[in-house]
Amino acid sequence: MREQLESIRANAETELSKATTLQEFEAIRVKYLGKKGELTSVLRGMGALSADERPIIGQLANEVRSFLEEKIEELLTQLNEKLKIEALEKEKIDISLPGKKKFFGKKHPLTQVIDELEEIFLGMGYQIAEGPEVELDYFNFGALNIPKNHPARDVQDTFYINEDVVLRTQTSPVQARVMKSQSPPIRIICPGRVYRSDEVDATHSPVFNQIEGLVIDKGVNMGDLVGTLQLFAQRVFGENTKIRLRPHHFPFTEPSAEVDVTCWSCGGSGCRMCKGEGWVEILGAGMVNPKVLIECGIDPEVYTGFAFGMGIERIAMAKFNIDDLRLLVENDLRFLKQF
Ligand code: PHE
Repeated sequence: MREQLESIRANAETELSKATTLQEFEAIRVKYLGKKGELTSVLRGMGALSADERPIIGQLANEVRSFLEEKIEELLTQLNEKLKIEALEKEKIDISLPGKKKFFGKKHPLTQVIDELEEIFLGMGYQIAEGPEVELDYFNFGALNIPKNHPARDVQDTFYINEDVVLRTQTSPVQARVMKSQSPPIRIICPGRVYRSDEVDATHSPVFNQIEGLVIDKGVNMGDLVGTLQLFAQRVFGENTKIRLRPHHFPFTEPSAEVDVTCWSCGGSGCRMCKGEGWVEILGAGMVNPKVLIECGIDPEVYTGFAFGMGIERIAMAKFNIDDLRLLVENDLRFLKQF
């Protein structure tokens, strides 16, 4: 019986060393340790042994059983571990494969410029004011010292809704509204869309954006206006930018000026961009006409103010070197992605 047990152990060990699959291990387990297994049947025959032999053989049989149980357990653990690793290898995700690119939108170049301009003026203590695009003729013109039949109305070719209602030709009506509803000190900028019946070309559009500024307080003078615009120009076009004022006429300001900045392309020496001038006109400005202050309920003996206004498309074209205004509204992604 001893030999029988030893050979069971030896045979099982050889078979186990060759086994590679879970099924094979299970078959070996059943073959030796199962109810009808070889070891089990040896144990059943123990009854025939003498009282001296029984404990010795019994001990050996137990040894062989635990040996086989442990061996199978150990090999199964190893196999499971191996299978797990193989499965993981097979499932491995190749992170070097390029993913599907998502296209994130971003701000339109015009919006970028509006944000930048607002940021600059907010930093100087201005507040942002807004008003309707479909505006009363009175606020767009009348309150700003442009009575009916005034030639200035021709310059700003107006879309009329009816006798009294227009698409605003400038954002100045917002200033009139603010002056009428608030008392000084006033320090606002008015960004927004404006309309003029212009033919579309590289530099004109019937719809464009303006940003206007208005400051009203005691003792505000032309020097404050120049200082403000100088700082503004440097922020937008660079530290070395200079400004120049040329006398002009606007009904709502007196005196009035057109304001040029040194060309951002050549720095003032003259190039194609500035048509050899060295200067580029970017805005209109002036001291608020006392007639406008009176019309809007502000005493010009106590308060003075300045105002300025500029076209945002113009600034965007300058900053980004865009040579055709139409590109800004065509929404061609090949264009827009560049900003
Ligand atoms: N509103 C003027 C325009 O659209 C610009 C301007 C604003 C000029 C304020 C002077 C002062 O042409």
